[in-house]
Amino acid sequence: QSPIRVALLGAGTVGAAVARQLYARGPLLASRVGAPLELSGIAVRDLSRPRDLPGVPEALLTDRPEDLIDGADVVVELMGGIEPAHGLLTRALEGGAQVVTANKQLIAQRGAELEALAAERRVGLDYEAAVAAAVPVVRVVRESLAGDDITWIAGILNGSTNFILDMVARQGMSFEDAKDRAGELGFLEADPTEDLEGIDAAAKIVILARAAWGVPVRMEDVQREGISQLTDHHFDTARGTGQVIKLVATAWRSGTPESPKVEVAVRPVSLAGDDPLALTREGGNTIVIETASAGALRFAGAGAGGEPTASAVLGDVVAAARRVVAGRS
Ligand code: NDP
Ligand code: HSE
Repeated sequence: QSPIRVALLGAGTVGAAVARQLYARGPLLASRVGAPLELSGIAVRDLSRPRDLPGVPEALLTDRPEDLIDGADVVVELMGGIEPAHGLLTRALEGGAQVVTANKQLIAQRGAELEALAAERRVGLDYEAAVAAAVPVVRVVRESLAGDDITWIAGILNGSTNFILDMVARQGMSFEDAKDRAGELGFLEADPTEDLEGIDAAAKIVILARAAWGVPVRMEDVQREGISQLTDHHFDTARGTGQVIKLVATAWRSGTPESPKVEVAVRPVSLAGDDPLALTREGGNTIVIETASAGALRFAGAGAGGEPTASAVLGDVVAAARRVVAGRS
Protein backbone atom coordinates (compact mmCIF):
# COMPACT_ATOMS: atom_id res chain seq x y z
CA GLN A 1 0.00 0.00 0.00
CA SER A 2 1.25 3.51 -0.77
CA PRO A 3 1.59 5.80 2.28
CA ILE A 4 -1.32 7.74 3.78
CA ARG A 5 -0.35 11.41 3.61
CA VAL A 6 -1.05 13.21 6.90
CA ALA A 7 -0.90 17.02 7.05
CA LEU A 8 -0.44 18.41 10.55
CA LEU A 9 -1.70 21.96 11.15
CA GLY A 10 -0.06 23.08 14.42
CA ALA A 11 2.98 21.86 16.37
CA GLY A 12 2.35 23.32 19.82
CA THR A 13 1.63 21.34 23.00
CA VAL A 14 -0.59 18.80 21.23
CA GLY A 15 0.67 18.97 17.63
CA ALA A 16 4.31 18.35 18.61
CA ALA A 17 3.23 15.36 20.73
CA VAL A 18 1.24 13.97 17.78
CA ALA A 19 4.29 14.31 15.49
CA ARG A 20 6.56 12.62 18.06
CA GLN A 21 4.13 9.72 18.65
CA LEU A 22 3.53 9.31 14.91
CA TYR A 23 7.26 8.93 14.32
CA ALA A 24 7.92 6.76 17.39
CA ARG A 25 5.05 4.35 16.56
CA GLY A 26 5.43 4.26 12.75
CA PRO A 27 5.53 0.45 12.27
CA LEU A 28 2.80 -0.16 14.86
CA LEU A 29 0.45 2.39 13.27
CA ALA A 30 1.20 1.04 9.78
CA SER A 31 0.25 -2.48 10.91
CA ARG A 32 -3.03 -1.19 12.37
CA VAL A 33 -3.94 0.86 9.30
CA GLY A 34 -2.68 -1.48 6.59
CA ALA A 35 -0.47 1.25 5.09
CA PRO A 36 2.31 3.49 6.42
CA LEU A 37 1.42 6.98 7.70
CA GLU A 38 3.62 9.71 6.22
CA LEU A 39 3.72 13.25 7.61
CA SER A 40 3.45 15.41 4.48
CA GLY A 41 3.99 18.71 6.31
CA ILE A 42 3.65 20.55 9.61
CA ALA A 43 2.22 24.07 9.69
CA VAL A 44 3.31 26.52 12.40
CA ARG A 45 3.03 30.28 12.83
CA ASP A 46 6.65 31.05 13.74
CA LEU A 47 9.30 29.05 11.85
CA SER A 48 12.13 30.39 14.04
CA ARG A 49 10.69 28.93 17.27
CA PRO A 50 12.76 26.01 18.69
CA ARG A 51 10.78 22.74 18.68
CA ASP A 52 11.08 19.41 20.47
CA LEU A 53 10.60 17.22 17.40
CA PRO A 54 13.39 14.62 17.42
CA GLY A 55 13.70 12.72 14.15
CA VAL A 56 11.19 14.94 12.34
CA PRO A 57 12.84 16.54 9.25
CA GLU A 58 12.89 20.34 9.60
CA ALA A 59 12.01 20.63 5.92
CA LEU A 60 8.48 19.50 6.78
CA LEU A 61 7.80 22.75 8.64
CA THR A 62 5.97 25.57 6.86
CA ASP A 63 4.19 28.76 7.87
CA ARG A 64 1.71 28.33 4.99
CA PRO A 65 -0.91 25.84 6.24
CA GLU A 66 -3.01 26.31 3.09
CA ASP A 67 -0.20 24.70 1.04
CA LEU A 68 -0.62 21.43 2.98
CA ILE A 69 -4.31 20.85 2.34
CA ASP A 70 -4.39 19.76 -1.30
CA GLY A 71 -2.83 16.33 -1.69
CA ALA A 72 -3.32 15.28 1.94
CA ASP A 73 -5.36 12.15 2.69
CA VAL A 74 -5.86 13.17 6.34
CA VAL A 75 -5.74 16.75 7.65
CA VAL A 76 -5.14 17.08 11.41
CA GLU A 77 -5.96 20.52 12.82
CA LEU A 78 -4.24 21.41 16.12
CA MET A 79 -3.92 25.17 15.77
CA GLY A 80 -6.95 26.21 17.83
CA GLY A 81 -9.21 29.23 17.27
CA ILE A 82 -12.01 29.61 14.75
CA GLU A 83 -10.13 31.15 11.82
CA PRO A 84 -8.08 30.16 9.87
CA ALA A 85 -8.89 26.66 11.20
CA HIS A 86 -12.48 26.76 9.93
CA GLY A 87 -11.51 27.90 6.41
CA LEU A 88 -8.72 25.33 6.18
CA LEU A 89 -10.92 22.44 7.29
CA THR A 90 -13.74 23.52 4.95
CA ARG A 91 -11.26 23.39 2.08
CA ALA A 92 -9.92 20.00 3.24
CA LEU A 93 -13.43 18.48 3.41
CA GLU A 94 -14.42 20.01 0.07
CA GLY A 95 -11.31 18.42 -1.45
CA GLY A 96 -12.26 14.98 -0.07
CA ALA A 97 -9.72 14.70 2.77
CA GLN A 98 -10.51 13.01 6.09
CA VAL A 99 -10.37 15.56 8.90
CA VAL A 100 -9.30 15.19 12.54
CA THR A 101 -9.34 18.06 15.05
CA ALA A 102 -9.05 18.64 18.80
CA ASN A 103 -10.53 22.14 18.46
CA LYS A 104 -13.56 22.22 20.78
CA GLN A 105 -14.46 25.86 20.14
CA LEU A 106 -14.54 25.21 16.41
CA ILE A 107 -16.63 22.05 16.77
CA ALA A 108 -18.98 23.63 19.33
CA GLN A 109 -19.56 26.72 17.17
CA ARG A 110 -19.28 25.42 13.58
CA GLY A 111 -19.40 21.62 14.02
CA ALA A 112 -22.92 21.16 12.59
CA GLU A 113 -21.93 22.93 9.37
CA LEU A 114 -18.64 20.99 9.07
CA GLU A 115 -20.40 17.68 9.75
CA ALA A 116 -22.96 18.41 7.05
CA LEU A 117 -20.14 19.12 4.59
CA ALA A 118 -18.30 15.94 5.63
CA ALA A 119 -21.50 13.90 5.11
CA GLU A 120 -22.08 15.50 1.70
CA ARG A 121 -18.51 14.66 0.61
CA ARG A 122 -18.69 11.20 2.28
CA VAL A 123 -15.56 11.77 4.38
CA GLY A 124 -14.97 11.55 8.13
CA LEU A 125 -14.74 14.40 10.64
CA ASP A 126 -13.43 13.11 13.98
CA TYR A 127 -12.85 15.08 17.19
CA GLU A 128 -12.48 12.65 20.09
CA ALA A 129 -9.73 14.77 21.69
CA ALA A 130 -11.95 17.87 21.73
CA VAL A 131 -13.78 16.55 24.80
CA ALA A 132 -11.89 15.21 27.83
CA ALA A 133 -8.64 14.81 25.81
CA ALA A 134 -7.46 11.21 26.37
CA VAL A 135 -10.73 9.94 27.89
CA PRO A 136 -12.80 8.24 25.18
CA VAL A 137 -16.29 9.70 25.45
CA VAL A 138 -17.41 11.30 22.15
CA ARG A 139 -17.51 7.94 20.34
CA VAL A 140 -19.09 6.38 23.43
CA VAL A 141 -22.12 8.70 23.41
CA ARG A 142 -22.37 8.84 19.61
CA GLU A 143 -21.83 5.17 18.79
CA SER A 144 -21.50 2.77 21.73
CA LEU A 145 -24.66 4.09 23.44
CA ALA A 146 -26.63 4.77 20.24
CA GLY A 147 -29.00 1.92 21.09
CA ASP A 148 -29.76 3.20 24.60
CA ASP A 149 -31.62 6.24 25.97
CA ILE A 150 -29.09 8.65 27.52
CA THR A 151 -30.87 10.73 30.15
CA TRP A 152 -28.09 12.69 31.83
CA ILE A 153 -24.38 13.52 31.47
CA ALA A 154 -22.30 15.22 34.17
CA GLY A 155 -18.59 15.83 34.03
CA ILE A 156 -15.47 17.52 35.13
CA LEU A 157 -14.50 18.49 31.58
CA ASN A 158 -11.84 21.12 32.20
CA GLY A 159 -8.47 19.86 33.44
CA SER A 160 -6.89 23.20 34.28
CA THR A 161 -9.69 24.48 36.53
CA ASN A 162 -9.83 21.06 38.18
CA PHE A 163 -6.08 21.26 38.75
CA ILE A 164 -6.44 24.75 40.23
CA LEU A 165 -9.39 23.79 42.47
CA ASP A 166 -7.62 20.61 43.59
CA MET A 167 -4.36 22.43 44.41
CA VAL A 168 -6.24 25.09 46.40
CA ALA A 169 -8.47 22.56 48.23
CA ARG A 170 -5.98 19.78 48.96
CA GLN A 171 -2.54 21.45 48.91
CA GLY A 172 -3.53 24.85 50.28
CA MET A 173 -1.90 26.52 47.25
CA SER A 174 -2.96 30.09 46.43
CA PHE A 175 -5.31 30.59 43.48
CA GLU A 176 -2.60 32.59 41.62
CA ASP A 177 0.16 29.96 42.14
CA ALA A 178 -2.17 27.17 41.08
CA LYS A 179 -3.06 29.06 37.87
CA ASP A 180 0.65 29.56 37.07
CA ARG A 181 1.34 25.86 37.60
CA ALA A 182 -1.59 24.83 35.35
CA GLY A 183 -0.11 27.07 32.64
CA GLU A 184 3.36 25.53 33.04
CA LEU A 185 1.87 22.05 32.59
CA GLY A 186 0.29 23.09 29.23
CA PHE A 187 -3.28 22.67 30.56
CA LEU A 188 -4.46 26.26 30.01
CA GLU A 189 -5.84 27.57 26.74
CA ALA A 190 -3.94 30.37 24.95
CA ASP A 191 -6.61 32.65 26.48
CA PRO A 192 -6.93 31.35 30.08
CA THR A 193 -10.33 33.02 30.56
CA GLU A 194 -11.70 30.24 28.33
CA ASP A 195 -10.87 27.85 31.18
CA LEU A 196 -11.54 30.12 34.16
CA GLU A 197 -14.92 31.39 32.93
CA GLY A 198 -16.18 27.92 31.95
CA ILE A 199 -16.16 28.65 28.19
CA ASP A 200 -13.96 25.61 27.46
CA ALA A 201 -16.18 23.32 29.58
CA ALA A 202 -19.26 24.82 27.90
CA ALA A 203 -17.92 23.96 24.43
CA LYS A 204 -17.24 20.38 25.54
CA ILE A 205 -20.70 19.83 27.04
CA VAL A 206 -22.28 21.32 23.90
CA ILE A 207 -20.34 18.80 21.77
CA LEU A 208 -21.30 15.87 24.04
CA ALA A 209 -24.97 16.91 24.16
CA ARG A 210 -25.15 17.15 20.37
CA ALA A 211 -23.41 13.79 19.97
CA ALA A 212 -25.66 12.13 22.57
CA TRP A 213 -29.07 13.46 21.48
CA GLY A 214 -28.51 14.58 17.88
CA VAL A 215 -30.23 17.94 18.44
CA PRO A 216 -28.84 21.42 17.82
CA VAL A 217 -27.25 22.82 21.00
CA ARG A 218 -25.50 26.19 20.89
CA MET A 219 -22.93 27.85 23.15
CA GLU A 220 -25.58 30.49 23.98
CA ASP A 221 -27.81 27.73 25.38
CA VAL A 222 -25.33 26.96 28.20
CA GLN A 223 -26.17 28.40 31.64
CA ARG A 224 -22.55 29.28 32.46
CA GLU A 225 -20.60 30.41 35.52
CA GLY A 226 -16.81 30.05 35.92
CA ILE A 227 -14.48 29.88 38.92
CA SER A 228 -12.77 33.28 38.87
CA GLN A 229 -15.24 34.80 41.36
CA LEU A 230 -14.52 32.09 43.99
CA THR A 231 -12.80 33.27 47.18
CA ASP A 232 -11.13 31.70 50.24
CA HIS A 233 -14.51 31.99 51.97
CA HIS A 234 -16.09 29.53 49.50
CA PHE A 235 -13.23 27.03 49.90
CA ASP A 236 -13.24 27.33 53.72
CA THR A 237 -17.02 26.81 53.89
CA ALA A 238 -16.86 23.73 51.66
CA ARG A 239 -13.90 22.28 53.60
CA GLY A 240 -15.72 22.83 56.91
CA THR A 241 -18.62 20.64 55.78
CA GLY A 242 -16.50 17.90 54.15
CA GLN A 243 -17.44 19.10 50.68
CA VAL A 244 -15.34 19.83 47.60
CA ILE A 245 -15.91 22.61 45.04
CA LYS A 246 -15.73 21.44 41.41
CA LEU A 247 -16.55 23.06 38.08
CA VAL A 248 -19.27 20.71 36.83
CA ALA A 249 -20.70 20.58 33.30
CA THR A 250 -24.12 18.98 33.00
CA ALA A 251 -26.48 18.09 30.16
CA TRP A 252 -29.84 16.43 30.62
CA ARG A 253 -32.70 15.41 28.42
CA SER A 254 -36.14 16.83 28.90
CA GLY A 255 -38.88 15.97 26.41
CA THR A 256 -39.21 12.39 25.21
CA PRO A 257 -36.44 10.06 23.92
CA GLU A 258 -37.98 10.37 20.42
CA SER A 259 -38.27 14.16 20.60
CA PRO A 260 -35.54 15.25 23.01
CA LYS A 261 -34.99 18.73 24.36
CA VAL A 262 -31.63 19.34 26.00
CA GLU A 263 -30.59 21.59 28.88
CA VAL A 264 -26.90 22.42 29.43
CA ALA A 265 -25.09 24.12 32.32
CA VAL A 266 -21.56 24.76 33.64
CA ARG A 267 -21.11 26.02 37.18
CA PRO A 268 -19.06 25.53 40.37
CA VAL A 269 -20.81 23.04 42.63
CA SER A 270 -20.10 21.89 46.22
CA LEU A 271 -20.04 18.09 46.13
CA ALA A 272 -19.89 15.47 48.90
CA GLY A 273 -16.28 14.34 49.35
CA ASP A 274 -17.04 10.79 48.11
CA ASP A 275 -18.90 11.84 44.94
CA PRO A 276 -17.13 10.35 41.86
CA LEU A 277 -16.75 13.85 40.41
CA ALA A 278 -15.31 15.14 43.72
CA LEU A 279 -12.61 12.45 43.56
CA THR A 280 -11.20 13.85 40.28
CA ARG A 281 -7.61 14.85 41.01
CA GLU A 282 -5.23 17.35 39.38
CA GLY A 283 -5.73 17.74 35.59
CA GLY A 284 -8.09 14.76 35.43
CA ASN A 285 -11.52 14.61 33.87
CA THR A 286 -14.44 12.39 34.98
CA ILE A 287 -17.66 11.87 33.06
CA VAL A 288 -20.74 10.09 34.40
CA ILE A 289 -23.38 9.07 31.85
CA GLU A 290 -26.81 7.86 32.96
CA THR A 291 -28.79 5.72 30.56
CA ALA A 292 -32.12 3.87 30.70
CA SER A 293 -30.66 0.39 30.18
CA ALA A 294 -26.91 0.50 30.90
CA GLY A 295 -27.40 2.49 34.13
CA ALA A 296 -24.63 4.85 35.22
CA LEU A 297 -21.33 4.59 33.35
CA ARG A 298 -18.17 6.33 34.52
CA PHE A 299 -15.10 7.37 32.48
CA ALA A 300 -12.02 9.04 33.93
CA GLY A 301 -8.45 9.94 33.01
CA ALA A 302 -6.17 12.66 31.71
CA GLY A 303 -8.27 15.58 30.45
CA ALA A 304 -5.43 17.78 29.21
CA GLY A 305 -1.72 17.82 28.33
CA GLY A 306 0.19 17.13 25.13
CA GLU A 307 0.92 13.40 25.25
CA PRO A 308 -2.51 12.20 26.52
CA THR A 309 -4.35 14.45 24.06
CA ALA A 310 -2.13 13.19 21.22
CA SER A 311 -3.20 9.64 22.09
CA ALA A 312 -6.83 10.52 21.32
CA VAL A 313 -5.85 12.45 18.17
CA LEU A 314 -3.86 9.47 16.88
CA GLY A 315 -6.82 7.16 17.54
CA ASP A 316 -8.85 9.38 15.22
CA VAL A 317 -5.99 9.48 12.68
CA VAL A 318 -5.89 5.66 12.59
CA ALA A 319 -9.69 5.53 12.06
CA ALA A 320 -9.40 8.14 9.28
CA ALA A 321 -6.47 6.37 7.62
CA ARG A 322 -8.37 3.05 7.68
CA ARG A 323 -11.20 4.75 5.77
CA VAL A 324 -8.67 5.94 3.19
CA VAL A 325 -7.33 2.39 2.79
CA ALA A 326 -10.88 0.98 2.55
CA GLY A 327 -11.73 3.58 -0.12
CA ARG A 328 -8.78 2.51 -2.25
CA SER A 329 -9.97 -1.08 -2.69
P1 NDP B 1 -0.69 25.61 21.13
O1 NDP B 1 -1.02 27.05 21.22
O2 NDP B 1 0.33 25.03 22.02
O3 NDP B 1 -0.28 25.26 19.63
C1 NDP B 1 -0.90 25.83 18.50
C2 NDP B 1 -0.04 25.53 17.28
O4 NDP B 1 -0.68 26.02 16.12
C3 NDP B 1 1.35 26.19 17.32
O5 NDP B 1 2.31 25.31 16.78
C4 NDP B 1 1.17 27.41 16.43
O6 NDP B 1 2.39 27.81 15.81
C5 NDP B 1 0.21 26.88 15.40
N1 NDP B 1 -0.61 27.93 14.79
C6 NDP B 1 -1.52 28.71 15.41
N2 NDP B 1 -2.08 29.56 14.50
C7 NDP B 1 -1.50 29.28 13.32
C8 NDP B 1 -1.63 29.81 12.01
N3 NDP B 1 -2.48 30.80 11.73
N4 NDP B 1 -0.88 29.28 11.02
C9 NDP B 1 0.00 28.28 11.27
N5 NDP B 1 0.17 27.73 12.49
C10 NDP B 1 -0.57 28.24 13.49
O7 NDP B 1 -2.11 24.85 21.31
P2 NDP B 1 -2.36 23.38 21.88
O8 NDP B 1 -1.45 22.42 21.23
O9 NDP B 1 -2.44 23.41 23.36
O10 NDP B 1 -3.87 23.13 21.39
C11 NDP B 1 -4.17 22.83 20.06
C12 NDP B 1 -5.66 22.48 19.96
O11 NDP B 1 -5.94 21.35 20.77
C13 NDP B 1 -6.60 23.60 20.46
O12 NDP B 1 -7.77 23.60 19.70
C14 NDP B 1 -6.89 23.17 21.89
O13 NDP B 1 -8.11 23.66 22.37
C15 NDP B 1 -6.96 21.65 21.73
N6 NDP B 1 -6.71 20.87 22.92
C16 NDP B 1 -5.62 21.15 23.71
C17 NDP B 1 -5.37 20.37 24.82
C18 NDP B 1 -4.21 20.64 25.72
O14 NDP B 1 -4.12 19.98 26.78
N7 NDP B 1 -3.30 21.54 25.39
C19 NDP B 1 -6.23 19.23 25.16
C20 NDP B 1 -7.34 19.02 24.25
C21 NDP B 1 -7.56 19.82 23.17
P3 NDP B 1 3.66 28.31 16.68
O15 NDP B 1 4.16 27.07 17.38
O16 NDP B 1 4.61 28.82 15.68
O17 NDP B 1 3.11 29.34 17.63
N1 HSE C 1 -7.63 23.93 28.64
C1 HSE C 1 -8.22 22.62 28.53
C2 HSE C 1 -8.43 22.04 29.90
C3 HSE C 1 -7.31 21.74 27.72
O1 HSE C 1 -7.87 22.57 30.85
O2 HSE C 1 -9.17 21.07 30.04
C4 HSE C 1 -7.94 20.41 27.41
O3 HSE C 1 -9.07 20.55 26.61
